[in-house]
Amino acid sequence: MLGSCSPQRYLLEKQKLIEISIALTSETDLNRLLTKIITELRRLTAAEGGSLYLTDRDKLKFEVAQNEALARRFGSDLRCLKYHEIPINQKSIAGYVALTGKTLNLKDVYQIPDNPPYRFDSSFDRRNGYTTKSMLAAPLRDQQGEVVGVIQLVNVLSDSGQILSFSPEDEGLVLALASQAAVAINNVRLLAAIRELFEALMIYSVSAIDARSPHTAGHSRRVAAYSMALAHAVNNCQEGPLAAVSFNELELEELRFSAWLHDIGKIGVRDALLEKKQKLTTDQMEVIRWRFYLARMQAASALEAAELEQDFAFLEQLNRSNHLPAEAAGRLIALAQKTISLNPDVGHLRLTGPGVQNLRQPLLSPPELMALSVQHGNLTPGEYAEIQQHVLHTLHILEKIPFRKHLSQVPRLAASHHERLNGSGYPFQLTASELSYQSRILAIADIFDALTSLDRPYRTADDLEKSLAILKEEVDRGRLDHDLVDLFISGRVYEGVIAEENQA
Ligand SMILES: [Fe+2]
Ligand SMILES: [Fe+2]
Repeated sequence: MLGSCSPQRYLLEKQKLIEISIALTSETDLNRLLTKIITELRRLTAAEGGSLYLTDRDKLKFEVAQNEALARRFGSDLRCLKYHEIPINQKSIAGYVALTGKTLNLKDVYQIPDNPPYRFDSSFDRRNGYTTKSMLAAPLRDQQGEVVGVIQLVNVLSDSGQILSFSPEDEGLVLALASQAAVAINNVRLLAAIRELFEALMIYSVSAIDARSPHTAGHSRRVAAYSMALAHAVNNCQEGPLAAVSFNELELEELRFSAWLHDIGKIGVRDALLEKKQKLTTDQMEVIRWRFYLARMQAASALEAAELEQDFAFLEQLNRSNHLPAEAAGRLIALAQKTISLNPDVGHLRLTGPGVQNLRQPLLSPPELMALSVQHGNLTPGEYAEIQQHVLHTLHILEKIPFRKHLSQVPRLAASHHERLNGSGYPFQLTASELSYQSRILAIADIFDALTSLDRPYRTADDLEKSLAILKEEVDRGRLDHDLVDLFISGRVYEGVIAEENQA
């Protein structure tokens, strides 16, 4: 208690006050900040208990409560005090302080003199078998003089455990610290508002990018959910090689942002590629259809015309297929060698000039042949490279965002989701020693969602087993982390996310 301090002790406490003010401004978590405020104020004044309310429009919300005597009896969990709201009016002590901005220094709350409008609410004392006596209730005012909250300190204890009153020095120090606390509270709230705004922008823009294709709608949200589920599973892991690995709050946040943003670079990839279902576009097929029509018109015999018709049917089927069997490849090459005469007398073409009579064109152009020759899937090597570029776009977009210090690795981490432990990934062919656990988690979450979101919601348990088997194969091929995939599968880490998705 400062009221009975020697001058040296008083100076020391003043120095302490400055240190506390500085410590308050460095706290970025609201709950921790509020707890720190009450802890330090109680320590400075030797108060047995303390609580803090924050204003929320016309109400005060109970945020933090501490009481040494009750903690000894019930443990530190004073939740009985929480989730409590009181209106800002003259009827309660805290409400009065919030409304008027005045400080109340009460010797005995059960004997308040002069009939003020407020009264002490004794229900808490009755419920907990506690006796509140002295109380100091002070407003938390910010730079603009706005009351952002109220603190209540109760029962100053002497060295011998006697309950004393709060001294005028206590009052002065509490008010000095209260204004610092109010500024710190406002800063943390502002930071939280900025973070929420950024998150909302991130979520809406990424979701819009994902929604460009039905194949990827909701992908980033699910990848973030799987990543966080796996990271928490790692934190809970008590045995095996992952027991030694853990992520702190900042690292978890870094992973969550990276997972949400990992495919933001797809904004730089053409819709036509993301949505590509066949080897050639509808327009390309239309051009080929007309070319074959022209060729049939030129056909020397009915047999030749019928053959061309079959060739075109074969191309249409090939265009839809995701595989190119060897015999089909042979037929395609033979077909591409056929040519069509651009004879000016045929169809609507009216070409003039030297050499026109001998102008011939192949039935399939080199780019068309290349697109149809793709053996697996429907992307040509060039198109595949263009899609792979999305990770570099992700890197470049995120590098332009001024992330706070602990998120500075987000661009690199997000852009590493296609890297593989054995160096077979892209874009930088990083290897195991360069890939953090967060990066490995992201890769697993990304693959797993790509595998399980196909043809959703018609997938069966069998499909899930196949997807998990593919993850194991990737481990066997040295591409994914063995321990993480093991935990993902044996801990059924994916289950909660899938259940939530199915509910949504
Ligand atoms: Fe990707
Ligand atoms: Fe992805």
